[in-house]
Amino acid sequence: MNFLSLLVIFMYSGTILSACNTIKKYDAIFNFGDSISDTGNFLRSGSIAFPVIGKLPYGMTFFQRPTGRCSEGRLVVDFVAATFGLPYMPPYLALAEGGQIFRHGVNFAVVGATALDPEFFRQWKIGSILWTNDSLRVQLGWFSCGNYLKKSLFLVGEIGGNDYNYAFFSGGTIQQVEALVPIVVEAIMKAIIALIEQGAVELVVPGNFPIGCSAAYLTFFQIPNKTDYDSNGCLKAFNNFFEFHNGRLKCALEKLRRKYRNVKIIYADYYGATMQFVTSPLQYGDQLLNFYN
Ligand SMILES: *[C@@H]1O[C@H](CO)[C@@H](O)[C@H](O)[C@H]1NC(C)=O
Ligand SMILES: *[C@@H]1O[C@H](CO)[C@@H](O)[C@H](O)[C@H]1NC(C)=O
Repeated sequence: MNFLSLLVIFMYSGTILSACNTIKKYDAIFNFGDSISDTGNFLRSGSIAFPVIGKLPYGMTFFQRPTGRCSEGRLVVDFVAATFGLPYMPPYLALAEGGQIFRHGVNFAVVGATALDPEFFRQWKIGSILWTNDSLRVQLGWFSCGNYLKKSLFLVGEIGGNDYNYAFFSGGTIQQVEALVPIVVEAIMKAIIALIEQGAVELVVPGNFPIGCSAAYLTFFQIPNKTDYDSNGCLKAFNNFFEFHNGRLKCALEKLRRKYRNVKIIYADYYGATMQFVTSPLQYGDQLLNFYN
């Protein structure tokens, strides 16, 4: 099966939690990931890579103080927790500091985290640009199981985007970085299997975003040739790359569903959801225009 047909088969747009139609009751919610979902771990991790998130305007529009979220407002995971009537997930490193109990869940995500271990990037000679060593494996190590896992929701990701960011921003070509996709997806699958084997029965696994529409990529990889941009002004090659990742991820999840028939594994279509901002920015408020123009 070639790359294009994969894209066509897996192209999908719909609601974010595509398989989740009814509001269910969970006792707790756990999250693993990166800057898309970190609620304060990175700020407490001792990394000095991205100090601005400790200052306003981060946190300005909702918490009125910087919390360590990479946003002036709330994150997708905050809305997910609120939807299920659960408190915003506290960052694991804050709980570890205070020795608190976490009955309603914990957030293990760390800004800059990768699906693969830092050693992998050191072998590629790009280890020095990593913002954090708290990869998916480290985050899983922080997680210790309780007996309420069957009534918990697990969010695994978005993770993997940074593996590609570090590679692209170190000069990797799309063909080179494509070779990373199967091993990144494999690392995510291993994390999911570890959680299932500890007792998780409901997991949400988000895909990646249309990064070819992001301000950072549009700035760093700008090219004079208009044919490299789609009608929304996004870089086609990078969007295709991230759709390729999402396609592989969905394929791998389907295999897991067949293996663990009693476990509910939901793919969250962050790509399709974000494309709605790109194609209809006026419906989602002016501020988003700044990100995608
Ligand atoms: C990650 O680990 C390496 C090797 O131990 C170390 O040199 C580096 O400073 C660490 N990076 C961060 C961000 O803590
Ligand atoms: C722009 O890209 C198209 C398609 O890849 C190619 O045919 C064309 O020669 C390129 N134009 C320039 C000015 O590089």
